[in-house]
Amino acid sequence: MTVGILTSGGDALGMNAAVRAAFRAIKMREPDREIVFFRDGFRGLAGRLDSSSDRNVDRSSIRDIIHRGGTFLGTGRVKEMILPAEDHPDYTTAVAARDKFLRLATANLFQTGVRDLIVIGGDGSFRGARVIADAFRTTFTDERFRVVGIPATIDNDIAGTDFSIGYDTAMNNVVDAIRKIRDTVESHRRAIVLEVMGNTSGWLALQCAIAGGAAAVAIPEIADSYSIPRLTAAVTAGALRDYRYFIIVVAEGVMKVAGADWMQRLKTSLELEPQLIRHLNGPMEVRLNSVGHIARGGSPTAFDNTLAGMLGAAAAEVIQLGEVEGVRVGMDDHVVVGCRGVDMVAVPLEDVVRRSPRLVTSGSSLYRLATQLTLGVEQPF
Ligand code: F6P
Repeated sequence: MTVGILTSGGDALGMNAAVRAAFRAIKMREPDREIVFFRDGFRGLAGRLDSSSDRNVDRSSIRDIIHRGGTFLGTGRVKEMILPAEDHPDYTTAVAARDKFLRLATANLFQTGVRDLIVIGGDGSFRGARVIADAFRTTFTDERFRVVGIPATIDNDIAGTDFSIGYDTAMNNVVDAIRKIRDTVESHRRAIVLEVMGNTSGWLALQCAIAGGAAAVAIPEIADSYSIPRLTAAVTAGALRDYRYFIIVVAEGVMKVAGADWMQRLKTSLELEPQLIRHLNGPMEVRLNSVGHIARGGSPTAFDNTLAGMLGAAAAEVIQLGEVEGVRVGMDDHVVVGCRGVDMVAVPLEDVVRRSPRLVTSGSSLYRLATQLTLGVEQPF
């Protein structure tokens, strides 16, 4: 049976290495096993096969990709797969569009002989893969079909795995940005508010703030972390103790829960704080910045490529051996492969979808560490 491979959702550094590893592992065991690449995420499943897929790919397709950024297969988010609420006026039209998309995708999967589909992406992609798999099984009742997910997202918020592909490289990119911003902010005695990606979960912001030595970090999961009075008080206390400059890292999702103007409101609060004005003989200078998509660029780190290699090879094991590290996986079981410590695991897709995105809690060890390493009003030194 043919194996399909696609990358989906936000690109994550290391996706190329995952495709390469899955391809090589499959072909090492079964040189004649057909592999199909679908282009531009799920969009490639529902397109004209001659332009949206590469059939029976050979080794030349995966040559010279391991060091490259982005995903050579292309990626994307398919709007047809996201339905509005049932009471939304566009709901019926959206369902019709999704059904049409599913009809095309499942017919193409049937026609290409793909019965194992490797989906490299985040929780949204896994949700979409489950819907496609259900539609396939409903239409082609005599056929088997299985999804094998490989977690890849810079948000690192997929349940069932310690790390997702792309997180480490994104962290290094963001910490690099923090270091560069430190040079300029220090020269000016300013505060900088630096937005980083993370629309629901704040892992990237949190860990980068720790690794980059930020003064404060605000994440969407924990309201106290983005309280403007608390942040203003912390910066004021720091300034009175002669801290020269402040880098405040904020996850993009804070603007969703606290308002699109949150950064501007924090700026105004810092600029108008009377104690800061007195101490600095004028308002504190505050600048707003964003790392944005730069976090997703460049070359993958050694960690991400190694992780991608291990996960790609584990996906091949599921498909060809029906096991991961000795633990059986049934022929019809949709799974996501992941890492726990240095062990590879296969977790039911259903569990991963239900428990993702994995959020930061105030009890998370990284969050507790951040509260110790960032500025606080009570800080005695
Ligand atoms: O899903 C991963 C992610 O990095 C989010 O943190 C971010 O909101 C999103 O991608 C942005 O992606 P794009 O702008 O490419 O749609």
